[in-house]
Amino acid sequence: MKRILLAVALFCGVYSAQAIKIIHGPYLQAVTDTEATIMWVTDVDALSWVEVAPEDGKHFYYRDRPKFYQTDMGKRIIGTVHQVRVTGLKPGTKYRYAIASKEVLAQKGNRIHYGNIVSTNVYRKVAQTIPTLDPKKESIEFVVMNDVHAKNEKMEAYLTHCFKKGETDMVIFNGDMVSSIPSIETLYKGFLDTAVKHFASDVPFYYVRGNHETRGKYSGDYLKYFPTTTGKPYYTITHGNTFFIMLDGGEDKPDNNIEYYETAAYDDYRKEVAEWLKTVVESNECKSAKHRVVFLHMPPIEGHKMWHGTRQIQEMYLPILNNANISVMLCGHVHKYSYHTNQAAFPIVVNSFEDALKVKIDANGIKVDVVDMAGAIKATHSFK
Ligand SMILES: [Fe+2]
Repeated sequence: MKRILLAVALFCGVYSAQAIKIIHGPYLQAVTDTEATIMWVTDVDALSWVEVAPEDGKHFYYRDRPKFYQTDMGKRIIGTVHQVRVTGLKPGTKYRYAIASKEVLAQKGNRIHYGNIVSTNVYRKVAQTIPTLDPKKESIEFVVMNDVHAKNEKMEAYLTHCFKKGETDMVIFNGDMVSSIPSIETLYKGFLDTAVKHFASDVPFYYVRGNHETRGKYSGDYLKYFPTTTGKPYYTITHGNTFFIMLDGGEDKPDNNIEYYETAAYDDYRKEVAEWLKTVVESNECKSAKHRVVFLHMPPIEGHKMWHGTRQIQEMYLPILNNANISVMLCGHVHKYSYHTNQAAFPIVVNSFEDALKVKIDANGIKVDVVDMAGAIKATHSFK
């Protein structure tokens, strides 16, 4: 009887549940020149929205701001993982945003009983911002890191030496940020909370899936946390004078390897990626850009590190890319730095697991600095 009374009381709002909390995020995803996705997580089910305001010097609450909700099949979504797409933005523009989540205390039939609201503080604090991409931007800068394998101290070092607030446009996670995804907590503890602490609420990161992100019970939820414009782990963006292709090579060993327990189907997946890539390199956006930069976790480099996955990449992706006037390909995976000019029709930089790449692209071309964890530049490559 007591339990029934408590349930009724909760539904009627007599008792307020413990205050809802934002426990991860917000972080920006799939930022383009006109849209962006804001991601965050609450500790309990909630109905969530994002309010957006221009950076015009007026207070966030100067007027009612447009609200964006996560919807599916015409219905606003209730849950703990919030993925809100903001649309109708202008290229090369910074917008302020605030997130809000209204806790759901109970649902009975069609009735929903709401509790407290948690939101980012835009009363006194400076609001977080969405910087949209801009094909007309004359100079862009970004940081690339890979094979972090959940070692947050590496990220901290890379960001300390390579990330410059107000100058760095984006960060690229070029695969193997974690060793496996046995739980979603692995992603937060492995790198995502550190990314949010340093930059990810205001500067976008673009994730290139590595072979290790394909492993673990929750690896199939990858796109729920890292949504893209294609709905797949492979996608493109344009920023400044450059067209970027984020590729996915799947796993490294043959599909029937015992490590995959009969779940791998990457031979067919790589065919799917190659078919997509054919259409991408024929697009006007790709052809009209001054530079074309490819990110791919596993490098198609001849030698004893060429396993089944990289061999298929060499056979299936390279013939397409070799005819696409690619400026440079940036890879990771083998944990060792190397530079190649004889493996494809374009140069390939393989970044190690203890360096980051600091890249600047402007009218003079592409400059890639290989920066170690102490901030020393180990090598520099320039491409026209
Ligand atoms: Fe890898």
